[in-house]
Amino acid sequence: MRETSYRAPSPLVKLPARIVVMLSGRGSNFDALADACQEGRVPAAIVGVVSDKESAAGLEKARRRGIEPVAVARKAGEGRASHEERLVDAVRQLGPDLICLAGFMRVLSPEFVGEFPLRILNIHPSLLPSFPGLHAQRQALEYGCRVAGATVHFVDSGVDSGPIVGQVALAVEEGETEERLSERILGLEHRLYAETLARVLAGGWELHGRSVRFPNPGAA
Ligand code: GRF
Repeated sequence: MRETSYRAPSPLVKLPARIVVMLSGRGSNFDALADACQEGRVPAAIVGVVSDKESAAGLEKARRRGIEPVAVARKAGEGRASHEERLVDAVRQLGPDLICLAGFMRVLSPEFVGEFPLRILNIHPSLLPSFPGLHAQRQALEYGCRVAGATVHFVDSGVDSGPIVGQVALAVEEGETEERLSERILGLEHRLYAETLARVLAGGWELHGRSVRFPNPGAA
């Protein structure tokens, strides 16, 4: 067994935790997390939603829940670094305990990730480390996989490469289309993200190398 590199306190932070969601699109995972918080399945409050896209449908979903979202679009001619600085400033100002990326389509810089070590989660629609990056469901189908799924992982500054925290798998149906597989995975994502977030917030887990060990072995 690899040496323990981090032992999380229990609970991880003072509860209810302050969560900021970062998104670029539809926002169905944000909605699912917000439901889980409201229903008491996750001991947290979503205190802000930050997007890099003014057109993200997730912004409207946030407003409907009484959260005034912050959209930080890239200005014409603006460099990547300056845009990211404005984005992360918006996140910092919200004072999050934890950041949940939910369809956020940018890779965060090592500086930002370093400010929130093991406090940024992402959800990805594949069984990582298979098929990181875009169109993960299509990649799995093209590869001929019989099993697909979703992963929640801690974020590092690579693409979908941080330590795995939770996963769920499903059997690929014969002749399944990308749309149908994506929809079936998305349904599982919504549950997985909330359950994994709750376990992370409960704390008491350890990081051994890149392997996350929960105190209750055998649970999902
Ligand atoms: C999800 O499939 C998620 O796994 C991926 O982007 C998609 C976002 O969907 N990272 P939504 O915006 O949460 O509906």
